[in-house]
Amino acid sequence: MATVVDIRDLTIAYGGGPPVLSGFSATLPERSFTCVVGSSGVGKSTLLRVIADLVAPAGGEVVVPDRGHDEGSRPFALVFQEPRLLPWRRVIDNVMFGLEGMKLSHRQRLTRAQEALALVGLGDHAGRWPHQLSGGQRQRVNLARALAVRPRLLLLDEPFSALDAVTRHTLQGELLRLARETGTSLLFVTHDLDEAVFLADRVIVLGGRPARVTRDFRVSLAHPRQREDAGFIDHVRDLRDALSELMVDGGGI
Ligand SMILES: Nc1ncnc2c1ncn2[C@@H]1O[C@H](COP(=O)(O)OP(=O)(O)OP(=O)(O)O)[C@@H](O)[C@H]1O
Ligand SMILES: [Mg+2]
Repeated sequence: MATVVDIRDLTIAYGGGPPVLSGFSATLPERSFTCVVGSSGVGKSTLLRVIADLVAPAGGEVVVPDRGHDEGSRPFALVFQEPRLLPWRRVIDNVMFGLEGMKLSHRQRLTRAQEALALVGLGDHAGRWPHQLSGGQRQRVNLARALAVRPRLLLLDEPFSALDAVTRHTLQGELLRLARETGTSLLFVTHDLDEAVFLADRVIVLGGRPARVTRDFRVSLAHPRQREDAGFIDHVRDLRDALSELMVDGGGI
């Protein structure tokens, strides 16, 4: 499998302070789904911000293999926990907003945005205002905005944590479908171990101060995964044990 991004020995610190995260390396292949878990404040959002190039690392590098000149896509798109929609723009314009700055005509941006909204099941909500949407629908628009730039790696920071369990489970299933249909690789941060085992083929556990990779799990269960299956429950337990060990060691809290 071709590599989408090669993260090499990242060290991250804020404002010249002590490192928040140190020695983080991971190679993410095409069509892969990686979850990052770890306790609050360990550095998960920070890691995504550095990969998305919003914050510069103190050391190491994020290498995106060159795939030639491609004006029509971006290497990364970042989906935050809160939808961050512009209230004064209709849904379609919120999705098109993510395409500004790319060398696309107005018509191309409109078509892209319509396709992305159809992908997330909101093709008929293009003319609505954000306040006319439910929380789950707003998060779908947020996803559509990220997908419209056709990222090679989609970075998601606890995107479903504010949603009720039923909506969250629905969107998890849809995200897996979108990943399959678009061929996008995903790096997904979550607190929810059940969510990580449902979605990912690899789960990276961060812990300690500065944070390091303390475990790197494979999840080789077939899709669609069933939460009540023994294999699923075993994986969730293994992950929980890995996180509890960190708590006992006092490194992750
Ligand atoms: N802009 C900033 N300036 C200085 N320190 C920061 C900044 N943003 C985050 N931090 C610190 O970096 C550490 C990691 O924060 P981060 O937001 O990455 O954690 P997290 O793992 O995403 O936590 P959570 O699960 O609560 O979202 C924390 O100690 C936090 O206080
Ligand atoms: Mg965070």
